[in-house]
Amino acid sequence: MQRIALFASGSGSNAGKIADHFAASVEVEISLVLTNNPKAGVIDRARGGFGTGQIHAPVLMFDRTTFYQTNRIVELLQKQEIDLIVLAGFMWLIPAQLVRAFPNRIVNIHPALLPKFGGKGMYGHFVHEAVVAAGETESGITIHYVNEQYDEGAVLFQATCPVVSTDSPDDVARKVQLLEHAHYPRVVEEVLNQMKNVQ
Ligand code: GRF
Repeated sequence: MQRIALFASGSGSNAGKIADHFAASVEVEISLVLTNNPKAGVIDRARGGFGTGQIHAPVLMFDRTTFYQTNRIVELLQKQEIDLIVLAGFMWLIPAQLVRAFPNRIVNIHPALLPKFGGKGMYGHFVHEAVVAAGETESGITIHYVNEQYDEGAVLFQATCPVVSTDSPDDVARKVQLLEHAHYPRVVEEVLNQMKNVQ
């Protein structure tokens, strides 16, 4: 069994798609959902069994001090024998001790074509607003490994969508979200398969 820990700070629609993707799997399990946000939609999604109603993952909430000034999250993930950490709309920078404990075993999705429109402060709506303001003709998603800098780890996968001059940031967000939901679960599965092959 390969074990995933999902980190999310918001609605958790990507976390939900990933959980549903593996709902029937006997090889992959969503072992834990972690969030820094007591109001995150992902909490209700996880407790309600995600979209299919079948995947009830325990939810752990943590605060900034625990995350950055203790080793408790790393220890928990190690104790639970987590194979892959999947960030799905998780807003905080991953601390160095967690990156080092899970080398090439943390993935993130960014709602633009990195290296453009990445870095601190570039999240959610800010990304799509910047894309439209820059007059870009395309945007998309980037799925990448996580290192100690925001949005700078090695790219695993990108997919693009057109941006037309009449598109609002909301229009771009909708197109990008379709790409996220279509590709993130599948890419996570590929990463897990690759890990199996090298173990
Ligand atoms: C997504 O756009 C993702 O790319 C970004 O945060 C958003 C999360 O959305 N990192 P959701 O919570 O999965 O709906």
